[in-house]
Formats: sequence, C-alpha cells, structure tokens
Amino acid sequence: MTDNQQVLATKINTIYSAQQIQARIVELGAEISADYKNVEAPVVIGVLKGAILFLADLVRNIKINDALQVEFVRLSSYGSATESSGRVQAPYLDLPNICQRHILVVEDIVDSGRTAKFFLDYLREQFDPASLKMVAFLDKPSRRVIPVNPDYTGFKINDLFVIGYGLDYAEKYRELPYLGELVGVDGEGE
Ligand code: IMP
Ligand code: MG
Repeated sequence: MTDNQQVLATKINTIYSAQQIQARIVELGAEISADYKNVEAPVVIGVLKGAILFLADLVRNIKINDALQVEFVRLSSYGSATESSGRVQAPYLDLPNICQRHILVVEDIVDSGRTAKFFLDYLREQFDPASLKMVAFLDKPSRRVIPVNPDYTGFKINDLFVIGYGLDYAEKYRELPYLGELVGVDGEGE
C-alpha cells in the first residue's frame, strides 16, 4: 500500500467496491441494450463532470444494432461543499442538432432532482426528442425536492454524501474506482 492509499483508506468508507459497480453496470447495460436494441441512432448525453467514469463504463456495455452518438454537457448545482446551491448552472451546454432523436441522459446522481429537471426540460424544449430517458448511477430518493425519477438506476442510496467513481467533494476523489463515504467531513467547503 502506498502512502497515498493509506491516507485515503483512513478517511473513506467503501460503499460499493469497484467490482460491485462493474457487476451492476453489466446488468444495466443489458437492460438498456434490450430496450434500445432496434432504436435508430440513439444519442447518449453525459453530464459532466460527475458522469465521466459511469458513462465510459456503461457505453462499453451497451450492445445494440445501431451506433451510439455520445455528447457531453457540463451542469452544476453544487458549490465545493456538500450542500446544493439550489441553482443549476450550465457552464457548457453546446449540443449539435439532435432534434427528434432518441436521447438517453447519463447522470452521476439524482439528489434534489433540480439538475435532472432542468436538463430534461431543456432537452424537451430544444430538441423535441423522439424519446427521452435518464440513467443515473446513483439515486438518493429521500433528498428529492423536485419529483423526477431516473428510468434506470445503478444503486439507490440513503442520505449520505458519497465520493469516488466520478463524484467529488470540492473537486477531489473523482478518480477513485469505488464509491465511498468521506468520514470526518463536516459539510463545509474548503
Ligand atoms: P441535484 O440537482 O440536487 O439532484 O444534484 C445533482 C448533483 O449534485 C450531482 O450531479 C452531483 O454533482 C451533486 N451531488 C449530489 N449528491 C452528491 C453526493 O453525495 N456526492 C457528490 N456529489 C453529489
Ligand atoms: Mg459535484
């Protein structure tokens, strides 16, 4: 174990291991593949930054007849702390013309539901999609402020602040291959 791993190991409780996450993604990929088997040219839109690892693993497990188009936007509703700012910002919302296409949004986590609601409404208005679904790596249903539900969910979790596998605390820990809970963080940003 390196020094760095020792430091992390003392501060992070594992919620889902890398192996558990990968196994669940194989199942999700199979479910999505079955539903999209004969769908023409679906567009997968990853919401940066949190969905990077999830999208990368998920698309490799989607096997359908047509090719996928992959796009990204960057949305944020959190500051650097563990509480949502309540406002959704869109630092990058540059999408090509995907009018009338079948769109699958890939989110890291649905918490209050504000980000998901903002983006789904935006896509409906801008592109009048042939279909619009959302897959979220994580769902925290107990935190919901706005009623919005993912069509596919990796894991439902309780109200705890998680990091790793794309999710950050103050822009840190996204690179961890597992999902963990930070121990000893009081909710204040840096
Ligand atoms: P919502 O708009 O409140 O649903 O929040 C969605 C965004 O908040 C996610 O895309 C994450 O970036 C962030 N977020 C919510 N819960 C957590 C968490 O437990 N850990 C890290 N980021 C989180
Ligand atoms: Mg974040």
